[in-house]
Amino acid sequence: MSTVNSQQRVLSGMRPTGRLHLGHYHGVLQNWIKLQHEYECFFFVADWHALTTHYGDATLFEDNVIEMVIDWLAVGVNPGSAALFVQSKVPEHAELHLLLSMITPMGWLERVPSYKDQQQNLHEKELDTYGFLGYPLLQAADILIYRAGYVPVGADQVAHVELTREVARRFNHVYGREPGFEKNAEAAIKKMGKKAGRLYVQLRTAYQEQGDHEALEKARALLQEQQNISIGDRERLFGYLEGGGKVILSEPKSLLTESSKMPGLDGQKMSKSYDNTISLREPLEQISKKISTMPTDPARVRLTDPGDPAKCPVWQLHMTYSDQDTKEWVTQGCQNAGIGCLECKKPVIDAITAELEPIQKEAEQFENDRDLVRSILLEGGEKARGSARETLAEVRSAMGLSAWQ
Ligand code: TRP
Ligand code: SF4
Repeated sequence: MSTVNSQQRVLSGMRPTGRLHLGHYHGVLQNWIKLQHEYECFFFVADWHALTTHYGDATLFEDNVIEMVIDWLAVGVNPGSAALFVQSKVPEHAELHLLLSMITPMGWLERVPSYKDQQQNLHEKELDTYGFLGYPLLQAADILIYRAGYVPVGADQVAHVELTREVARRFNHVYGREPGFEKNAEAAIKKMGKKAGRLYVQLRTAYQEQGDHEALEKARALLQEQQNISIGDRERLFGYLEGGGKVILSEPKSLLTESSKMPGLDGQKMSKSYDNTISLREPLEQISKKISTMPTDPARVRLTDPGDPAKCPVWQLHMTYSDQDTKEWVTQGCQNAGIGCLECKKPVIDAITAELEPIQKEAEQFENDRDLVRSILLEGGEKARGSARETLAEVRSAMGLSAWQ
């Protein structure tokens, strides 16, 4: 029986891009590591999503999945705390995607910003596919199948979470309206017992008559605690709180991941497409060499030329890695030509080395045993499937398909 508390669930996905770099670590992964201790987390490799844009490179995916997940594991994403899995291992995502497609207006997909952008760049004609149009809806299915309350995403993905909320709302509106809803809800209140039932009614009135959102949250928490009511009744009472029908799919919120401040070696955002990355498992001597030769303030041609940290990408690395004293030493030394650029880079090289050494050591066991990584993903997939099946059974039943389960 489901006792899902959406407010405790987090889901996020990443396309299989292969080895990850410092930008991923300081942006997305450190956030995941924090969340995995606070929530019930589902983190997955979005291989079907990758197919929507890279259907021609499918044979590269398997390696990319494994290499990316080695990096997840090496930095401390913990399969004991979070379910780690590959999307295509959980076909329930696809079935929910299909079912949601029945109620999703074309216009909702056509107006998703990433789709519009692509249409304006018509030279990318090879993305004129059904799969690419539907990709935000697939993402909605990814999220709704786990009834996740929170979805950590970058700014570019917020519109997709918004679409997910609209789809959930529409689904609940269309399929949550059973005949006799109010009567069933009243009967469910009785099953809560006198005290809890009375409190529920008070909180509902406070919300409906005075718009008291705190009362709404309290009522939700109260329902979550109830041991005596069935899943169906809980959903009815969630819906009854807000006046509508049953809440079968819960609306998620995005947790905006601050974009990483990690600059690439040229000062632009660190990204594979700019060829300016430091990857997590790159040999340390190579990293040291890359930083030693990265550009600095062009005004500092000779050691005696003063410079300006604001014009130097190394300074941005100091912002991430150095303490106050070091930063002052840099500012002074740069502006007064008191230190050389190589000297200035030394603390950054040391800090990145210290950060990556344990990660690379941790990665070794997985590099030596990729089957271990596969088995972690299979196990995570089973765990995810258990939750996905529960949601899908209710969706099927709401849509009149349960006779064939
Ligand atoms: N679309 C996301 C990306 O391109 C990946 C993704 C797929 C995702 N499904 C998701 C992220 C669900 C969060 C939740 O980066
Ligand atoms: Fe950049 Fe440091 Fe050289 Fe100044 S001294 S230009 S901050 S590397």
